Amino acid sequence: MDASAPASWHGEIGPIFLTEAQIQERVTQLGDQISQDYVGKDLVVIGILKGVIFFIADLLRAMTIPVAIDFLAIARYGPTEQTHGVVNLTKDLDEPLAGRHVLFVEDIIDTGFTTHYITRNLRLREPASLNLCTLLNRPRRRIIDINPAYIGFEIPDHYVVGYGLDYKGRYRNLPYLIKFEPSQQ
Ligand code: IMP
Ligand code: MG
Repeated sequence: MDASAPASWHGEIGPIFLTEAQIQERVTQLGDQISQDYVGKDLVVIGILKGVIFFIADLLRAMTIPVAIDFLAIARYGPTEQTHGVVNLTKDLDEPLAGRHVLFVEDIIDTGFTTHYITRNLRLREPASLNLCTLLNRPRRRIIDINPAYIGFEIPDHYVVGYGLDYKGRYRNLPYLIKFEPSQQ
């Protein structure tokens, strides 16, 4: 698979960080591994709208066991260095989780605040098990200790967009990841 895309986007927003081929190769590996780990189990995969939709769509198609999928949506208010902001659910899951095996899939874990908040919320619903999978893990900026069972890529401390990740709501539809340089947009 080729990483080239609308040429006009390249120079404007920054260099390619992970190509489409690199992402797809890793997603296929994760799908295989998760399928082996959950074979024979009632698995529901959960994501937060909207950043995770591309990853979750590819991951689930790389899996070889039957799974259910459900989504949450959240709004974050006023994150500051002091408060880390407040997370509110703006859309809840459609299905109960009690007694089911849950895989919570994230696009990126940065400070860990969002993941921690949602994980705590999911645990209250008494799933049989709860594991975490993230496409991107940026441990250097972590505030809350979180150790995902499945990690696509460990990434350094720079902002990235594409493959679902946005800057002010844009660039989610890039099929690869770009190291975002706001000065160049
Ligand atoms: P956390 O609560 O600090 O872990 O932040 C997680 C959320 O911040 C992600 O779900 C993204 O929406 C956003 N985020 C963090 N880093 C990036 C990035 O490099 N690009 C795009 N969004 C990001
Ligand atoms: Mg975002």
